[in-house]
Amino acid sequence: VKPRTDYSAIAARYDGDRAMYTVGADPEVVAHGGTLVDVGCGTGTWLAAQRVPRAIGIDPSAAMLRHVVGLAVVGRAEALPLATASASWVESRYCFHHFDDERAFFREAHRVLADGGVLRLVNVMPLEDPDFTLYDFFPEARAVDERRWRRSDELVAWMKAEGFVDVTYSVASTTTRVAVDDYVAILRSRTISQLALIDDDAFARGVGRLAEMEGTITDSATVWTFRARR
Ligand SMILES: C[S@@+](CC[C@H](N)C(=O)[O-])C[C@H]1O[C@@H](n2cnc3c(N)ncnc32)[C@H](O)[C@@H]1O
Repeated sequence: VKPRTDYSAIAARYDGDRAMYTVGADPEVVAHGGTLVDVGCGTGTWLAAQRVPRAIGIDPSAAMLRHVVGLAVVGRAEALPLATASASWVESRYCFHHFDDERAFFREAHRVLADGGVLRLVNVMPLEDPDFTLYDFFPEARAVDERRWRRSDELVAWMKAEGFVDVTYSVASTTTRVAVDDYVAILRSRTISQLALIDDDAFARGVGRLAEMEGTITDSATVWTFRARR
């Protein structure tokens, strides 16, 4: 069983802490048309930015969904509350490490997508990312992630096994200079699941390490985008 993050305790602070990461409409998603489904949509910021006529956000946390603008349904990735062949694009962002069973999610995504539909997963892959900044300050978070994260080749194999074709992924890195004080302020509210799941002493030690830095630090975010077709 994976360590569980309590998003009902995080929901009210979540958007404020993510404000430094801008999201806009993705022309490809908008052009694809049909029904867009965001699994693990959280507060729905990405979904709202797509401005498509038919969008559904799904998340098990009612507290996160309360912030969604548009149609939001309580549900889990492993048992999607959607009819067979009813979706044209299934998106899941920064989520699958929370799923109890990723393979059940792929099976469900394959079921709810109509032929020609797209499954796209966007996430960090900390165990495969040598520049994952957070571990520099909070090394205990790595053990938590070892219990939660899959490897990219495993995810690809499972998508194929559930019937998806044209399964690929791409990797893109961005680095931002962040004022240490701003970074500490965001981390202090522990809305990042790694920080919600380590114990208070490990968290305090990490904040202490960060506080010793002066001025700005480089926050590097490497994001994997997995894509598959039904
Ligand atoms: C880091 S947040 C990401 C939210 C949003 N996608 C974003 O990019 O801001 C992870 C989300 O996964 C949701 N989640 C946890 N377990 C889930 C499951 N089994 N199925 C679907 N979503 C789940 C949580 O409730 C939370 O909203």
